[in-house]
Amino acid sequence: MCGIVGYVGGRQAAPILLDGLKRLEYRGYDSAGIAIHNCRHTNLIKAEGKIKVLEEKLGGAYPEGCAGIGHTRWATHGRPSDVNAHPHTDCTGDFMVVHNGIIENYQELKEWLQSKGHVFKSETDTEVIPHMIEHFYDGDLLEALKKTISRLEGSFALGVISRREPGTIAAARKSSPLIAGLGEGENFIASDIPAILQHTRKVYILEDGEMVKITKDSVEVYDFLGTPVAKSVFEVKWDAVAAERGGYPHFMLKEIHEQPRAFKDTMAGRIFPEKGEIRLDDVHLGKDYLQNLKKIFIVACGTAYHAGMVGKYIIEKLTRIPVEVDIASEFRYRNPMIDKDMLVIIISQSGETADTLAALRESRKQGARVLAVTNVVGSSVSREADDIIYTWAGPEIAVASTKAYSTQLIALDMIALYIARILGTMPDEDAKDIIAAMKKLPDQAKTLLESEDRLKAIGQKISGHQDVFYIGRGLDYPLSLEGALKLKEISYIHAEAYAAGELKHGTLALIEEGVPVIAPVTQEHLFEKTLSNIKEVKAREGYVIAIANDGNEEIKKSVDDVIYIPKTHPILSPVLTVIPMQLLAYYAAVARGCDVDKPRNLAKSVTVE
Ligand code: G6P
Repeated sequence: MCGIVGYVGGRQAAPILLDGLKRLEYRGYDSAGIAIHNCRHTNLIKAEGKIKVLEEKLGGAYPEGCAGIGHTRWATHGRPSDVNAHPHTDCTGDFMVVHNGIIENYQELKEWLQSKGHVFKSETDTEVIPHMIEHFYDGDLLEALKKTISRLEGSFALGVISRREPGTIAAARKSSPLIAGLGEGENFIASDIPAILQHTRKVYILEDGEMVKITKDSVEVYDFLGTPVAKSVFEVKWDAVAAERGGYPHFMLKEIHEQPRAFKDTMAGRIFPEKGEIRLDDVHLGKDYLQNLKKIFIVACGTAYHAGMVGKYIIEKLTRIPVEVDIASEFRYRNPMIDKDMLVIIISQSGETADTLAALRESRKQGARVLAVTNVVGSSVSREADDIIYTWAGPEIAVASTKAYSTQLIALDMIALYIARILGTMPDEDAKDIIAAMKKLPDQAKTLLESEDRLKAIGQKISGHQDVFYIGRGLDYPLSLEGALKLKEISYIHAEAYAAGELKHGTLALIEEGVPVIAPVTQEHLFEKTLSNIKEVKAREGYVIAIANDGNEEIKKSVDDVIYIPKTHPILSPVLTVIPMQLLAYYAAVARGCDVDKPRNLAKSVTVE
């Protein structure tokens, strides 16, 4: 997954593709590649590392040809390497494919193709696609692509070229962005507008379920059944900087809106509601090992630590194994009591945070097994851990973490279910219910994002305050910690979170007229208790904003504003509840004129102690 660009026309393709890929560099990537056609053959050049490395490999001589595809890869399946970089080819080398997204059923497809004699070179999910196209090709590239995608499960934006049909690019989109750029005697495909903005401002934005065939003089769009689709031209009015943010004013807002897709990808090929099953390919915790497990530690920093606190509640509830959560910078120096009968879960978006990495090394040194939750394939944490779950959130650019946090929660839900299923600590029906509810999260997040205008208004209201408090019980408490962190890191408003029952033991003294208190009340079994704490705040004339499950009318009587979230299984509600918290923080920060994507004094990844 990451960046795609494709070109057919009268000019040399290689410089256009390399320039297009450079304009996508801001998104982060770990390897790059291009495939260029001329009349006789296709040149394929791939390299791990930056585009500069790819250019060095070319040795100053661009391969000749007026059609080609290029890709920058952010690894998901298979570490960053020359071989795993895109484009990928079939056995004959006739078909070249670039792909963003995740193919959920690639294992099954790979076995099927291998049984037919296809030989695979890479560790990627993508490589099944060129082999399938080779299998189905019968003189028509688009037709072969159509047959291929009818068998694919998961998400994809695909670009394909073939030396059997030089001068044509076939492309398709499902749940991963793709556009066709319309030029004069030349046409383009791209995953993002900045890649082609210097050549054309006229584009077709492909929708899910659409394919496109481009030549230098034509752009034809079809649905997945092959029926032509009439598209209207979208005129890009953004400048290059706005285009990088997909038209959003900030990366943070873009990334908040990417959460439905990120949720879907993170669960892709891992959750099976019908069987109540979780499959985690890079996790190998056997029954004997889990039965002897005395304790689980979760160790992380910042936002990842807050995800870990939510994880504690969920893992303990589903598995009945005691869980201790630690801040990495404390854990590494407190001589923690760890041994081989303990599992250490390390959470790190970047996989490079110095304290977290030191905690991982310390745990392994003392004999514990380490399971890492990270967003970056090939990161130090992923290389040194025994077991890994990648959050497939995609690159996160804004310093304040949003989609990485919510996908960490999903990863922790999957770990809890995975262990509980092996140990038999939860009935089949309960597992099926939770997994079925997980499947709905992407659509529910989408619905929630539609109420953005209200959140903007409330965010603006709190922006004028000096202090904001967050209170919650059960899972709403660790979630409140993250809500408060989001607000303070980007808006510089002093924000603190408390277990709701703790407020009266001190902090209630700070509540006076108009002080905003944000109170998630998603845990129904604790609702009455939190309501009492809300009343304590109201008695001091605080301004209470509740976040409640759809249908909770009762709460309206006791608070000033209510934000409703779609109803889900109680253990999953933090995944949704955090979204309004992110938006409140974002709009408060914007109202205060803050530099949202680059807050003062903070770094995205902290590689020093
Ligand atoms: C920095 C970032 C935070 C992040 C923390 C841990 O402080 O600003 O957003 O949560 O590091 O980073 P990690 O990459 O280990 O999750």
